[in-house]
Amino acid sequence: MSNRKTQTGINLTDVLGQADHPLAVHLLQTEKMAGIGQLAAGVAHEINNPVGYVFSNLKTLAGYMQDMLKIIDATDHLTSISELQQLKKTLDYDYIRQDVPALLRESEEGMDRIKHIISALKYFSHTDDDNLRLADLHQSIESTLTVAGNEIKYRAQVVKQFGVLPPVQFNVSQINQVIMNLLINAAQSIENSGMITVRTDQEGAWVWFEVEDTGCGMSEQVKQRIFEPFYTTKPVGQGTGMGLALSYGIIQKHNGKIDVSSKVGHGTRIRVWLPVHQPNV
Ligand SMILES: Nc1ncnc2c1ncn2[C@@H]1O[C@H](COP(=O)(O)OP(=O)(O)O)[C@@H](O)[C@H]1O
Ligand SMILES: [Mg+2]
Repeated sequence: MSNRKTQTGINLTDVLGQADHPLAVHLLQTEKMAGIGQLAAGVAHEINNPVGYVFSNLKTLAGYMQDMLKIIDATDHLTSISELQQLKKTLDYDYIRQDVPALLRESEEGMDRIKHIISALKYFSHTDDDNLRLADLHQSIESTLTVAGNEIKYRAQVVKQFGVLPPVQFNVSQINQVIMNLLINAAQSIENSGMITVRTDQEGAWVWFEVEDTGCGMSEQVKQRIFEPFYTTKPVGQGTGMGLALSYGIIQKHNGKIDVSSKVGHGTRIRVWLPVHQPNV
């Protein structure tokens, strides 16, 4: 961990570990908003697809409805059953009949998908409380995976190996941010296609979660610096270099630990340890 000072003499790494420092609060908020901004395009894309086919199904259903009304209205003036049967044939009633349930089922699935993404986004952004509370770490991981889905799925297959976890005392908004940073870093480390494995487990009074990728890995020199504020090896626009610095601060505030193991050309595994209960809370 570098002890570099900024020009004003502030040690950013220390600042990030202080929950109430105005600069830490500000940087955390800025990084979070930047992250949500970046993800917004991906989330919009994810939602756009189901919205597209639900809308098109609605249009088809509206057409079917018109034809069915024609058939029902015809009973007012038609004089024979065979005329009604002829009309049904002309309007392709048999096809409508078998297509409607499929369209409705597909639309319902589309709406479920949209609901799922929106509730994940709500859980991920979680601005309504900024306190420690007993929460479900798996829900944090699942919702973050959903929100980051678009950034990940074109590069990596995600494998989940979850253990059994008790409710853990943590700040949901902040830990979601850490999980997001690890997932995005993992996805960005993969050039063409690879695998991201997310694991969790409990060991006594501690729980851990880890993100392992089959990406580019890090040299020993890079590994030494990853928690430095503004340290990045990525081109401008892709990395701010704040992800792991902020994550480190968040984990420190939670009295936790981060383990990093990495091998150039093979991949990286970053494991975060959290105490199930925070001391003195
Ligand atoms: N999973 C990973 N695989 C390879 N390198 C990584 C990984 N995670 C982090 N790094 C390295 O650590 C640096 C700092 O990460 P981070 O603080 O998230 O900033 P950023 O992602 O904006 O560069 C990255 O630029 C990269 O060099
Ligand atoms: Mg990052």
